[in-house]
Amino acid sequence: MPYSIAVIGTGYVGLVSGTCFAENGNTVICVDNDRRKLDALLNGRIPIYEPGLQPLYERNFKEKRLFFTDNLEEAVLASEIIFLCLPTPPNEDGSADLQYVLAVADHIGRILGAHAPQPFKIIVDKSTVPIGTSEKVTDAIRAHYDGDFVVVSNPEFLREGFAVEDSLRPERVVIGTSHPAAQRILTDLYRPFVLSGNPIIIMDERSAEITKYAANTFLAMRISFMNELANLCEVLGADIDMVRRGIGTDSRIGKKFLFAGVGYGGSCFPKDVKALLRTSKEAEYPLRIVQAVEDVNAEQPLRFFSKVRDYFGGDIAGKSFAVWGLAFKPNTDDVREAPAFVIIDRLLEAGALVSAFDPEAVENTRTRYGDRISYPHGMYEALEGASALLLVTEWNEFRQPDWERIRRTLAEPVVFDGRNIYDGASLAAAGFDYFPIGRKPHLGRKK
Ligand SMILES: NC(=O)c1ccc[n+]([C@@H]2O[C@H](COP(=O)([O-])OP(=O)(O)OC[C@H]3O[C@@H](n4cnc5c(N)ncnc54)[C@H](O)[C@@H]3O)[C@@H](O)[C@H]2O)c1
Repeated sequence: MPYSIAVIGTGYVGLVSGTCFAENGNTVICVDNDRRKLDALLNGRIPIYEPGLQPLYERNFKEKRLFFTDNLEEAVLASEIIFLCLPTPPNEDGSADLQYVLAVADHIGRILGAHAPQPFKIIVDKSTVPIGTSEKVTDAIRAHYDGDFVVVSNPEFLREGFAVEDSLRPERVVIGTSHPAAQRILTDLYRPFVLSGNPIIIMDERSAEITKYAANTFLAMRISFMNELANLCEVLGADIDMVRRGIGTDSRIGKKFLFAGVGYGGSCFPKDVKALLRTSKEAEYPLRIVQAVEDVNAEQPLRFFSKVRDYFGGDIAGKSFAVWGLAFKPNTDDVREAPAFVIIDRLLEAGALVSAFDPEAVENTRTRYGDRISYPHGMYEALEGASALLLVTEWNEFRQPDWERIRRTLAEPVVFDGRNIYDGASLAAAGFDYFPIGRKPHLGRKK
């Protein structure tokens, strides 16, 4: 039987999850309080860039399995399962800000209280939240409603850029609840998503909440480990890419998340690392390894900037730089905590000019920088008059560029490769000075 589902918060997680629940035959009402997003969604346009999402959204919207509203009451009363997909940004002290989650929980409690009694409701927390949040959400609802409901932790593991694929075929589903009916219903809801045999793992609420932080922090740790090792390789004259291949072929280590670069960013890793650190400090068991992960990551884009500045003798005032890639990773328009922004901030502080190009993230970048930087229409146009190309995010279209055209367009033939995607020897042969991460530079510029 299809389920009636409400998804509160129609951002990257809510819109993708809601669309995928509808795709499997359920009826889904997505709620958001951002009028601009709702207007777009009600007029056939998704407000984010996520590969594969548009046709899925169009089909389910047309088939009337997928609805959009700002009316929380209507959605809550019509649904047996209510997903919270709300933001949990970092507070000043690094802890997760629960104001959106708790405000909606309070509102749900009031709605249920005003229309009591209601049939059994399952409130599912998909936002990434600190340990103990399911109890807080329960208390917030219970303050207004003493009917039959349960709060479940169901962390989301989708990757932006692959969100549709990850939602339709998750590698695992974690359901945190000890409530037998909720376990049964959610297992049934997710069954079509794991037909290939991937597991649905049932655990208690607290373990589910910490599982999400553990997953993201572990991945962030791999990145920081490789970045720190890359910095050592630079000092010792070794090649981090060879080291990566040397260790990644060990099945105990695996090949993924071993690429050195300018540091991790995005809406998840930075805030989740901070939040776990904060939780561990509050529990009086500070996770030292997680502190190091964060410290290394904070330094990594600054090291990249220093490399650029030092190459030009410490003074880059008045020089122009082309930045390729602004989104925190390829295949998304998400610029939250993007390393490119740390680098651009430093360039501007140093008096440099920046011309920036990204296939999808220019509009979001413009919101932050306005006319303080320029946004030429194409990747090659961004190079005009620039003293160097800074490759920050490795979109596919940057991988095999026309080097002849680049050399003709740049004011100086210099490339800083923040993702190690280019071949230094051939760039040097083509007359460029080339600086990767954790590998020897190649100097081919004719002075
Ligand atoms: N983005 C990811 O890749 C990802 C992956 C896994 C988990 N998460 C977690 O999922 C949660 C949501 O992340 P996101 O990236 O989708 O965030 P987002 O900012 O893209 O979306 C959140 C949405 O909630 C809406 N909202 C805020 N207050 C509201 C309210 N009172 N009523 C209705 N709507 C409201 C916002 O308008 C926004 O559209 C976060 O906790 C995040 O850590 C994100």
